[in-house]
Amino acid sequence: MSIQLNLKSVAPFIREHEIDQMQSQVSRAHDLLVTGTGAGSAFLGWRTLPDDYDRAEFDRILAAASRIQKTCDILIVIGIGGSYLGARAVIDFLRSPLYNNLKKDTPDIYYAGNCISSASLTDLLSICEGRDVCLNVISKSGTTTEPAVAFRIFRNYLEKKYGKEEAASRIYVTTDRKRGTLKQFSDKAGYETFVVPDDVGGRFSVLSAVGLLPIAVSGIDIRGLMEGAADAAKAYASDDLRRNDAYRYAAVRNILYRKGKTTEILVNYEPYATMLSEWWKQLFGESEGKDGKGIFPASVTFTTDLHSMGQFIQDGSRNLFETVICIRRPGTAAYRIPADPMNVDGLSFLDGKDLDEVRDTAMQGTRLAHTDGGVPNILIEMSGRDAHALGELLYFFEIAVAISGYLLGVNPFDQPGVEAYKNNMYALLGKPGYEDRKKALEARLD
Ligand code: PA5
Repeated sequence: MSIQLNLKSVAPFIREHEIDQMQSQVSRAHDLLVTGTGAGSAFLGWRTLPDDYDRAEFDRILAAASRIQKTCDILIVIGIGGSYLGARAVIDFLRSPLYNNLKKDTPDIYYAGNCISSASLTDLLSICEGRDVCLNVISKSGTTTEPAVAFRIFRNYLEKKYGKEEAASRIYVTTDRKRGTLKQFSDKAGYETFVVPDDVGGRFSVLSAVGLLPIAVSGIDIRGLMEGAADAAKAYASDDLRRNDAYRYAAVRNILYRKGKTTEILVNYEPYATMLSEWWKQLFGESEGKDGKGIFPASVTFTTDLHSMGQFIQDGSRNLFETVICIRRPGTAAYRIPADPMNVDGLSFLDGKDLDEVRDTAMQGTRLAHTDGGVPNILIEMSGRDAHALGELLYFFEIAVAISGYLLGVNPFDQPGVEAYKNNMYALLGKPGYEDRKKALEARLD
């Protein structure tokens, strides 16, 4: 496996026998998962997705990606939450957070419909001027406000720019197989459609067409991603805590939670992993944060955030633990620090050193300091930065959160809390059928 769990820096906080004692609970959680008898069992499709996916659709994704690459300068991915975070995480991680600014023969990729902001839509529309544009609209329900509004705006834009017929050939829709309104609308309009499987929830959908189409457009090897995930599915099939790193991670974070460590910070040392942390936060936050329970998922990118959040982590409230992702061979050319005979900054001891070596040393020093400061450090080591290794990591987190949620006693596959803001927003905006709620809310407004 390209992924290894290293618990050495957790040892001062958890004894080995405490992990062993979790075995029976983990085995029960494993049974719920593999027999499909646990809460949320209608949404377990992600488990088998890496092996058991629609090959014909996969080929259509590759064909559509190649068409998009040939016909557009910009792909706009419209979606929110699980409908865009996975693709963005993978593209940033394997290509670059500066992907759009790189010299490349694949289209720029922008994201829309993930907020409610006139300013960002105006900016994006102006970026599109004079350039050829395609859309990938991703929404399982087809009725989520943010992407639906963005789709209205960009559909109008495309139809004005190219006419209805050509616009239709530039719009790709990823949605529910047959029930949703977006599917019916797309079929009528002549858009090519891809499927969000019924049994795969948004935050678990990165390895379906939801993530794969935009990822393939960016030139990433989606087959490698799937193969990595398939290898992970095999590696994490046993309920034996001593052999299954994903389950061990789930067990350890649950032990820490029971000891009052209620916030987990996902730490990475590379800007290209920042969006991966955003994906991870949704996966863990939405899966576990319910019924008054759950570990709050936070994230930092070091060393950047050591200069903003470092003080708190070292020395603030002691309810934290860190999960550090360490990539052993990032696969990019390393810089050597140039010598400065004047030694203006007093850093001549670094002359000629490889920058990545300095980063790794910063990581070692930080991990030791944080452990000394009372912050347990779980380490996830990745042997490289490639599609196969990332596929493994995505699956590692997916199966870990499923087990972790069952250990916590929640349904890891629903998100009932997300509806509360929507209902209030609809009522206040005057959606028919929400009149009573509107009155009650308005009485409470300032
Ligand atoms: O994980 C989830 O379920 C959510 O983040 C959804 O993906 C998000 O709310 C978007 O929903 P939809 O795809 O129906 O537009």
